[in-house]
Amino acid sequence: MQIIKQIQKLDSTLLHARSQGASIGFVPTMGALHEGHLSLINNSLSSNDITVASIYVNPTQFNDKNDLKKYPRNFTADFELLNSAKCDIVFTPSDKEMYPETDQRHFDFGLMGELMEGKMRLGHFNGVAQIVTKLFDAVKPQRAYFGQKDFQQLAIIRKLIHDYNYKIEIIACPIIREKDGLAMSSRNTLLKDAARTEASKIYETLLKIKKNIGSLKVTELEKLAEDRINQSTHLHLDYCRIVNTRTLAPVTKITFSEPLTACIAVFVSKIRLIDNIDLIS
Ligand code: PAJ
Repeated sequence: MQIIKQIQKLDSTLLHARSQGASIGFVPTMGALHEGHLSLINNSLSSNDITVASIYVNPTQFNDKNDLKKYPRNFTADFELLNSAKCDIVFTPSDKEMYPETDQRHFDFGLMGELMEGKMRLGHFNGVAQIVTKLFDAVKPQRAYFGQKDFQQLAIIRKLIHDYNYKIEIIACPIIREKDGLAMSSRNTLLKDAARTEASKIYETLLKIKKNIGSLKVTELEKLAEDRINQSTHLHLDYCRIVNTRTLAPVTKITFSEPLTACIAVFVSKIRLIDNIDLIS
């Protein structure tokens, strides 16, 4: 496995591979890797000649400086995991490499960028778009792999590809969960014992919503989430929304004529976690 820090070096390495007709699969990450990230890597390995993973904790997508400061970083373990997974190249740029000057670009995703995570984490998706476009431009992959865990991010990336004419195929990968159902996340390592145990209520609540989709109204389903989450000592509901899977527009009525997803964000102690479940495909 090659570890590359400079865009120029990445470019010359991949140029050579590309000239020999190699296909490139790309998995962008912020490190502190777990099985969820590895599933993306494995997906890429199975369909491409070369798999590039990036590890970069992107400052412009953190609206909370404290969240950025405490975001877990574990380069040595990450390299070992990627190496044993047989990832070909890991790109780990510095801040200066990615942002030699302040990125002034402003991306507009309309309603899709203003709801849920967009509303609660102002500027978050603009920062994601800034770094993902820079990474796409550096790697120039045929395919890029994203997890369904970050449901809204995935929709935004698809829109980005469409609006800015990137010729990259976006592959959505299913959510990988812990045994108790908690969606794997780099932030899970920040949870202390009791809080970690209670965090399994997040997925339980999503399953409960799915079970009651035919019998309860949207407002009742969202209230059910609020009650179930907030009854736990360490949990506090940030939002629970039932949205159209394609447009992300919140629905007020369940008609079974459109695909629906339930999205949830929960503070577990001070750590904010997100999850989602497909309700109607
Ligand atoms: P990060 O949170 O490290 O996630 C990297 C990729 O792994 C994302 O596509 C995310 O959806 C996926 N992922 C995380 N947990 C997963 C799980 N339990 N199951 C399946 N996939 C999972 O998302 C980011 O980084 C950043 O915003 C990034 C796109 C790298 C831009 O900085």
